[in-house]
Amino acid sequence: MIKPYLPQNDPNPQRRQEWLNRNREQYEFDLDYLYPIPYLKQLPIGENFSTRYLAQATSAFSKLNANTLAAKFHSLWDPLNKLQDYEDFFPILPRPSVIKTYQSDNAFAQQRLCGVNPMVLSRIRGEMPAHVQFFLQDVQAKFGKSLELEKLLKEGNLYLADYTSLSFIKGGTYQRGRNYLPTPIAVFCWQSSGYSDRGQLVPIAIAIDPTQNTHFLTPFDQPLSWSFAKLCVQIADANHHEMSSHLGRTHLTIAPFAIASARHLAENHPLSLLLKPHFRFTLVINNAARASLIQEQGPVDELLAGSLNESLTIAKDSFKTWSLDQFAFPKEIANRGMDDVKQLPHYPYRDDGMLVWNALKKFVSG
Ligand SMILES: [Fe+2]
Repeated sequence: MIKPYLPQNDPNPQRRQEWLNRNREQYEFDLDYLYPIPYLKQLPIGENFSTRYLAQATSAFSKLNANTLAAKFHSLWDPLNKLQDYEDFFPILPRPSVIKTYQSDNAFAQQRLCGVNPMVLSRIRGEMPAHVQFFLQDVQAKFGKSLELEKLLKEGNLYLADYTSLSFIKGGTYQRGRNYLPTPIAVFCWQSSGYSDRGQLVPIAIAIDPTQNTHFLTPFDQPLSWSFAKLCVQIADANHHEMSSHLGRTHLTIAPFAIASARHLAENHPLSLLLKPHFRFTLVINNAARASLIQEQGPVDELLAGSLNESLTIAKDSFKTWSLDQFAFPKEIANRGMDDVKQLPHYPYRDDGMLVWNALKKFVSG
């Protein structure tokens, strides 16, 4: 156990300085690679995965590797073109339970509240945003008396999942042609069940490409068309999740803190001791991302909709617009109008996240 000392109290200031000098040589910023995101130039040996972790990972991945070998291989002439083809990807691994329900409206809405990316949905407060107004009258007409949009808006029960900020993406290429990214707007309403804390989020309309045309779909359209509209939202959400929430605002946002801490906080600095567990394996995994994930013909290039450069632009934009004061957990939730438990009783990401946030706050303040 390392005993914490602030610099002015360190009984061995020379050793402290030597340690910092050595670290500044080992932990160098690379500002050119993904400008303006600071990256690590070269990975110090001490940042590698531990053997214990590697052993655990190998055993955790063994089933996955066996599953990959057992899954049917799809060639260029035998493409994935049925939903069943995707379900067949699980010959050994247990099928995710959402396979049974993912096509329902409820499962679709749940994805916005407790799926992989529950950070896009926002509550519409006050006026309807200008770029949504264009289709709401028509939505109202489709629903007739069964839905009162004005009332829902006034009561603060309308929600928006807006992906139009990704509309700069023209699309990359894939073996079989051009990739395409739908950048939809999806409107939801919160339907209370009458009990104070019960109800559900219901999707009511999706404009698939609102920056290009005024076409939109509702649950009253053909089931296949409505499913297609929901699929477009899922595709946009997957691209947003991977490049913005996951890579841009998690991996790539925390790394500069890890590098700066290594360069400027001696290993016995109280803040270094406090931060170190949170940086564990961050730099090695980001190093691996640079080597494969975000390389040409790597997963981001091949699986996401944008060209590699376009996808990386999403990560850079999300990094540029991130700030600690606006993205501290409770603030970010409040910024999207999702903080009022009475208004929106069911938002597991918020409620579970607040438990973690409060525990961390208590620990750090202590
Ligand atoms: Fe990750």
